[in-house]
Amino acid sequence: MFSSAIVFAILAAVSARNNKDVSFENWSGYRPGDRIFYFPGDNGKIYKIDSWEPIDRDAIRNYTCCPVNNGYWLYTRSNAKEKQILIMGNKTSVKKSNFDPNKPTVFTSHGWLGDGNTEMNKLLTKVFLKDADVNVIVLDWSGLAKMGYVTAKESVPKVGRMYGQFIYWLHQNFHMSLQNIHLVGHSLGGHLVGSAGRELKGAAQRITALDPAGPLWCCDKRRLSRRDAHYVEVIHTNAYMAGYPKPCGHSDHYPNGGSFMTGCHVLDLICHHSRSWKYMAASVEHNKFLANKCANVWEAFHNRCSGYGGLMGNSFIAKTQFGLYRINTLADYPYIDIKFANFYSPLLKLY
Ligand SMILES: *[C@@H]1O[C@H](CO)[C@@H](O)[C@H](O)[C@H]1NC(C)=O
Ligand SMILES: *[C@@H]1O[C@H](CO)[C@@H](O)[C@H](O)[C@H]1NC(C)=O
Ligand SMILES: *[C@@H]1O[C@H](CO)[C@@H](O)[C@H](O)[C@H]1NC(C)=O
Repeated sequence: MFSSAIVFAILAAVSARNNKDVSFENWSGYRPGDRIFYFPGDNGKIYKIDSWEPIDRDAIRNYTCCPVNNGYWLYTRSNAKEKQILIMGNKTSVKKSNFDPNKPTVFTSHGWLGDGNTEMNKLLTKVFLKDADVNVIVLDWSGLAKMGYVTAKESVPKVGRMYGQFIYWLHQNFHMSLQNIHLVGHSLGGHLVGSAGRELKGAAQRITALDPAGPLWCCDKRRLSRRDAHYVEVIHTNAYMAGYPKPCGHSDHYPNGGSFMTGCHVLDLICHHSRSWKYMAASVEHNKFLANKCANVWEAFHNRCSGYGGLMGNSFIAKTQFGLYRINTLADYPYIDIKFANFYSPLLKLY
């Protein structure tokens, strides 16, 4: 198994003065049970979290009472920049919109301190619409995501269920096939789309979780699991710090080892954590992220993976893949050498 001690040793060796936002004191990565940890918000800032802070159960109850508190924003090729708001229970809001139930639908979810306009949503909406004529539905759950981490985390299973109920409503009333949907979530949103999938009894075709959050999820049965959809893919980019370290999908990708991303400062949790959705976007644009299969997480971390290749990410809803993978990326978008990948792309047909 992967030795987290290695991560801690590396972190301990690095001076905290390089981070502009916080002083990391003696922090050395997140271990289950830790009281204090650091976590990056979707707003691009890193925060010190006290896991003993009280859960605001009133706020969760108030928000989750009413499905309408979740914002569902539709984008299509006809309205790629201007959202159309869909209201659960209001069929007119859907009929009047550009939603086409016969096209594939991508459902996204942001994470902590994010909202519908978060950079991750903007980039993914752009590339999914460029790639294919699909519906993109962006969840805005900023009402709870803006609370403290502990409250936001605690609300994820319920907000995810609400999302699942909305998806089911589209399925029932507009005959949107659950085999034609792809749920994509980042950070807390990774677990959130898992809960949405669970509400759909695992009938959604694909979930892609982009560095699902680690802190407080280790022993929570409500976390993302491979039972949540026919195919669950996970891209780990900040394991043992912001990200959940263990395999939790049908296929788990550990690009660059899964903890420290090429081109990011070692303590820049924002950079590592957000790479998950940047890689995803790049793989939707260029479906050439050929990764090697690994026998275990240790191999992935130590760059010892020599198994057959498998593609990381992409937009293919009917994708199937199994096991652990590593790809070594470049430091800048699109993170792979496109010319090199094009040269080898005829070989991709083999996989
Ligand atoms: C740093 O170490 C001190 C003493 O062991 C401990 O009280 C404190 O909580 C630690 N800080 C963090 C952020 O873990
Ligand atoms: C929840 O709703 C109740 C009743 O509307 C209100 O009194 C209370 O302040 C709300 N609590 C929070 C945390 O929003
Ligand atoms: C339903 O949505 C339509 C169009 O978005 C809106 O005009 C109408 O007021 C809504 N009806 C209800 C009952 O909210």
